Amino acid sequence: MTNQKALAPLSSSTSYDHKARLKAYFNGIGFERWAAIYGQGEVSSVRRSVREGHRMMLDQAGIWLDAQSFPANACALDAGCGTGLFSVELARRGFRVTAVDISTQMTKAAQTQARQAGVAERIHFITGDLEAVNGAYDVVACFDVLIHYAQPDFTQICTRLAHLCRGTLLLTYAPYNRLLATMHWIGGHFPRSQRRTEIQMIRGTTVQQILESAGMHIRHSVRVSKGFYHVTLVEALKR
Ligand SMILES: C[S@@+](CC[C@H](N)C(=O)[O-])C[C@H]1O[C@@H](n2cnc3c(N)ncnc32)[C@H](O)[C@@H]1O
Repeated sequence: MTNQKALAPLSSSTSYDHKARLKAYFNGIGFERWAAIYGQGEVSSVRRSVREGHRMMLDQAGIWLDAQSFPANACALDAGCGTGLFSVELARRGFRVTAVDISTQMTKAAQTQARQAGVAERIHFITGDLEAVNGAYDVVACFDVLIHYAQPDFTQICTRLAHLCRGTLLLTYAPYNRLLATMHWIGGHFPRSQRRTEIQMIRGTTVQQILESAGMHIRHSVRVSKGFYHVTLVEALKR
């Protein structure tokens, strides 16, 4: 059986309004958009490129994880789990998984996905703010969540993730460069129904500083680009 426990209301000092807007977005139109991208149905070419890029990113994260050994019954946190794609992959690898998402729609979809995959009993679902999660996890994954946060929220969340991690932290961020800024601007001219979410870009040197200040050492960092999907995937280890 899986639990769906509601966390206390958003409580951190991270911009309350911004989180409230994200929560509303990912319970509404954002849920429809991203669930379509993460699903298997027909989508536009823009969304298909995001789907394929996201798949490439998850596959790379899986390759890095598989190259390590973890204690039996190791635990993992999927922070901002969305529809649960990586939560299921973590459970299939034998982790006891905590999957948290601020959107009720997302955790519901993730639970359905976990049930269909036959791994629901290995995943504890929480609807709430990832910053309200406590504990120590062998693996913390946070994919395509930080891309929605600008400074100083980015630093605060990233630091929190590092503190929750006692082993391997896997995260993505949107790397800053001028070409991508232009592509994002072009993306803003697609029909409203096809537009991507506003993405917050950040420099790699800033991410490195944040993680090092939080006691993490970056082992791998790779750009994943496909059509309209552009992120840097990082694997950082606790020092
Ligand atoms: C683009 S989706 C990525 C989903 C998933 N990580 C994946 O890669 O398949 C971003 C997710 O982050 C969640 N999210 C954003 N801010 C959050 C927060 N502060 N706490 C928990 N979830 C959050 C959203 O609700 C949404 O489901």
